[in-house]
Amino acid sequence: MPERLLVTGASGNLGRRTVQRAAAAGWSVSGTYLTAPSAFAGERLDVRDPAAVGELLRRLRPDAVIHTAAGRDDWRAMADGAAHVAVAAASLGIRLVHVSSDAIFSGREVHYDETAPPDPVYRYGAAKAAAETAVRAVAPAAVVVRTSTILGDGGGAHEVLTHRLVSGQATGVLFTDQIRKPVHVDDLADALLELAGNGYRGILNVAGPDVISRYDLGLLVARRDGLDPDLVPAGTIAGQGLRLPADVRLRLDRAQSVLRTRLRGVHEFLAGSARTDVRVVHLSGPAFRALADGDVAAANALSPVPVSDYLAGPECRAVWRMRSRQAEEDPAAAAWVTGVIWDEGRRTAVGRAGFHAPPDADGMVEIGYAVDPAHRRRGYARAALEILLARAAREPQVRRVRVSIAPDNVASYRLASRYGFRKVGEQWDDEDGLEFVYEVPAGPS
Ligand SMILES: NC(=O)c1ccc[n+]([C@@H]2O[C@H](COP(=O)([O-])OP(=O)(O)OC[C@H]3O[C@@H](n4cnc5c(N)ncnc54)[C@H](OP(=O)(O)O)[C@@H]3O)[C@@H](O)[C@H]2O)c1
Repeated sequence: MPERLLVTGASGNLGRRTVQRAAAAGWSVSGTYLTAPSAFAGERLDVRDPAAVGELLRRLRPDAVIHTAAGRDDWRAMADGAAHVAVAAASLGIRLVHVSSDAIFSGREVHYDETAPPDPVYRYGAAKAAAETAVRAVAPAAVVVRTSTILGDGGGAHEVLTHRLVSGQATGVLFTDQIRKPVHVDDLADALLELAGNGYRGILNVAGPDVISRYDLGLLVARRDGLDPDLVPAGTIAGQGLRLPADVRLRLDRAQSVLRTRLRGVHEFLAGSARTDVRVVHLSGPAFRALADGDVAAANALSPVPVSDYLAGPECRAVWRMRSRQAEEDPAAAAWVTGVIWDEGRRTAVGRAGFHAPPDADGMVEIGYAVDPAHRRRGYARAALEILLARAAREPQVRRVRVSIAPDNVASYRLASRYGFRKVGEQWDDEDGLEFVYEVPAGPS
């Protein structure tokens, strides 16, 4: 396996994930950004500038480059940029993995293997097709990966769009007649890394095996993330007066024989309920106190996982003060009460969740959670709820589980009602005002 890797577009969805997985797999990896530097993308690069591309590759001298960067409406970034990367990589003898797209096809043929020539019908597809031609002419030893809709970890464009449509932040529809073979971002990243380390030359289709419309894909995303599927708007390409590729299916026979990486279908990776990469990490009394004081550094020294400014911020302090008092009175309470919602994949604290207290004399626990506004609408609330319900089901002394929800918090009510919570009363909370109280028996419903 080569050792040094450069990922262009590492501030984007696919690039970021590729950097993360490369680092985890032992590569020494650098990533580029154009406008959004991050921990994964520390090198600024505009691929429209051939001199800058050449200078960066000469300076870093990677063994391989994975070129994911693409400016959606920018021909020069997508087509010329890919040519600049190919020229620089070829002149330095650097392995190149170029990311292309099924957008190069019109959909007239429906099924496309690696020999299919591009017949784009819109500008983005045409730019990606031009990029392929340049890369193959300049760097014949490179691999050109044609892929389809990329999603899976909440950050894919289709996942973001589904959330925006459901919440009313965006208007539009998801097409029932636009058919694709979506791929999980992690599987694609792993395939790109595998190809960076082997000698495959030429075009390779890398997509998921399942065929699905963009609308049905939106429904799967909504169900996974605890959104109301009825709020996903449906439409057709023709109904919107658009000319877009309708049915484009990449054949995967070659990928299945070439790649060790398994490519999962959407029904496998989206049909499951909550996210499995999320944990609730419990804290200790001193960590509660540090958070109540807003002291992130002290909290980080005491917490098993790094906390966030949100958790140490004003919105959460009253909760930590209460938890600190509870832990002083009964240290065993710390293992029940509010902890950190931790995304293992992103290694990020995304909110807080736990029970209000250990089970009372009647075996009742009350669930509380809050997701950091920066991480909302990615399924974390649902994941936290499922984790706490599973814990309640496992603990022999827990018999009932309660949640209290403000009457206008429709999203929380919808989520809770899916898990069998039923209204049992109303209460007045000094901080939160009127709340409806819902309960469900602990254990399998
Ligand atoms: N998304 C899909 O469903 C899909 C489907 C098929 C193929 N693809 C292909 O997969 C690749 C990754 O897609 P994605 O959705 O992960 O992309 P993305 O999230 O939109 O990220 C695009 C990346 O390109 C960078 N970039 C834009 N213009 C640039 C320029 N002139 N010079 C250098 N970098 C530039 C951006 O940097 P900043 O953010 O820092 O500005 C960002 O890092 C692309 O090649 C795309 O065509 C995507």
